[in-house]
Amino acid sequence: MDLFRAVYTSRPFGYDAGMLNGILTDARRCNLRDEITGALICRADIYLQWLEGPEDKVRAAIARIQRDDRHVEVKVHIEAPATARLFGDWDMLHDPAASWIWSQAEVTGGAVERATPDELVGFFQTLKDANTAPKGQ
Ligand SMILES: Cc1cc2nc3c(=O)[nH]c(=O)nc-3n(C[C@H](O)[C@H](O)[C@H](O)COP(=O)(O)O)c2cc1C
Repeated sequence: MDLFRAVYTSRPFGYDAGMLNGILTDARRCNLRDEITGALICRADIYLQWLEGPEDKVRAAIARIQRDDRHVEVKVHIEAPATARLFGDWDMLHDPAASWIWSQAEVTGGAVERATPDELVGFFQTLKDANTAPKGQ
């Protein structure tokens, strides 16, 4: 399989537990079917999502996600081949209210527009590390 990954940011349009649960239910159902894994960092002011899997499936998911009216301002930052999965153990790891990404003030101040791929990959690597038990413990 040609592994491919995509990372985007967007702004929630309406944000509450019910909506988030609905999104995660949709995401996990589709991702299981499509061999997609990934992570969704979510806060009232921002979504950051990492998707990885077969290229055609990831591109199709991004196209559906871009049409979804539960968020706006979808900006795709990374679309590239990948050599290994970062979130292979998760249909969609969910991290609410992340405090270690940009602050709300930074988001308001344009951090999303200035984001670099390395910065975004760093956020997801931190999330992965926080959810992976150290070896031997
Ligand atoms: C923030 C956000 C994240 C989402 N993540 C995924 C995802 O990882 N995979 C996916 O297939 N759909 C995801 N969705 C849902 C899609 O937009 C869509 O509802 C779903 O793929 C079903 O599409 P369909 O109703 O056209 O079949 C997400 C939606 C939002 C708003």
